[in-house]
Amino acid sequence: MRTKIAFIGFGGVGQTLAKLILEQQEDLKSNYHIKPEIVAVSDVMKGSIYHPEGLRIDELLDCVEKHGNVEYYEDEPGLTKGWNSLETIKKSNADLIVEVTFTDVQTGQPAIDHCKAAFENGKSVITTNKGPVALAYNELSSLAKKHSAFWGFEGTVMSGTPALRMPVETLAGNEISEIRGILNGTTNFILTEMEKGESYEAALKNAQNLGYAEADPTSDVKGYDARYKACILSNYIMNTPIKSDDIPCKGIDGITKEMVEEATKNKKKWRLLAKISKNEGLVKASVHPELINDNDPLAGVTGATNAIVFDCNLAGEIMLTGPGAGLVETGYSLLIDLIHYGKEKHNTAMKL
Ligand code: HSE
Repeated sequence: MRTKIAFIGFGGVGQTLAKLILEQQEDLKSNYHIKPEIVAVSDVMKGSIYHPEGLRIDELLDCVEKHGNVEYYEDEPGLTKGWNSLETIKKSNADLIVEVTFTDVQTGQPAIDHCKAAFENGKSVITTNKGPVALAYNELSSLAKKHSAFWGFEGTVMSGTPALRMPVETLAGNEISEIRGILNGTTNFILTEMEKGESYEAALKNAQNLGYAEADPTSDVKGYDARYKACILSNYIMNTPIKSDDIPCKGIDGITKEMVEEATKNKKKWRLLAKISKNEGLVKASVHPELINDNDPLAGVTGATNAIVFDCNLAGEIMLTGPGAGLVETGYSLLIDLIHYGKEKHNTAMKL
């Protein structure tokens, strides 16, 4: 099945998915009946290009690597350059939009409008952008349903570690009453580097260099990123919308070297914990640093690794741990979504 893909945003995560598609073309076809073709890329910094018959992925990646702009792609009949994101979504023949623009923590835009435009035009979306899933989940999921479009967002929480599909699909049949976890890689990296004696500033710089931090790391260190993820978990797993502003939130920017040293002396660790609980249909959530005993399983979670614990009525406490950030891990989360998109379309085609 031909899957025509348009990338909205083409930073490190989008490029990683393009590389994975190039490398896994044969497996995607033989194992999952997906024949992905990239027909468009539109990025405010890296230019815009569209060809209805598909673009050569190696040349696209080469243009970005050598010139920082996809418009260096060799001219040929049928090629269109310069479309903005909404033109690309509406006018291209793409079936699937990969929305990988930066997350705007205040408004969720322009990603929310990108998803809306895609669904209204009967196109599916896969995204790692937290804004739309945290702020406009109900509206967008209804719109996707109405237009029979697929919406995948596995990478919005814990990147390629399946923190969203695992509880919904594999733990199906349980009631999940509480979710708690370390959901931000940057802050966990900073805290564990500080435990090794590193300064807060140097550890943050390092997290930025390693690609863990958001474009504006205030979102990480003040806990807003984890708060967004708490909203997503409440929306998707607890089926209960919660407003980001209703979640009390404190970051790690007040944690000093002395506090970390004191904790280590007392066999304790500081961890930024997000908690979401559901009681008689009412969901409550919070994000704040907590001092936990060093034999707590969450204390052993170090570096940019994330962990999440699901309190299930039948299966008990299930903990999932793995990378929560990183280019390959986040690019891979989009590949998971692409494969699920393919499976859904294949199953629908089989039923017809
Ligand atoms: N800045 C985020 C983090 C990236 O550090 O966890 C993944 O959402």
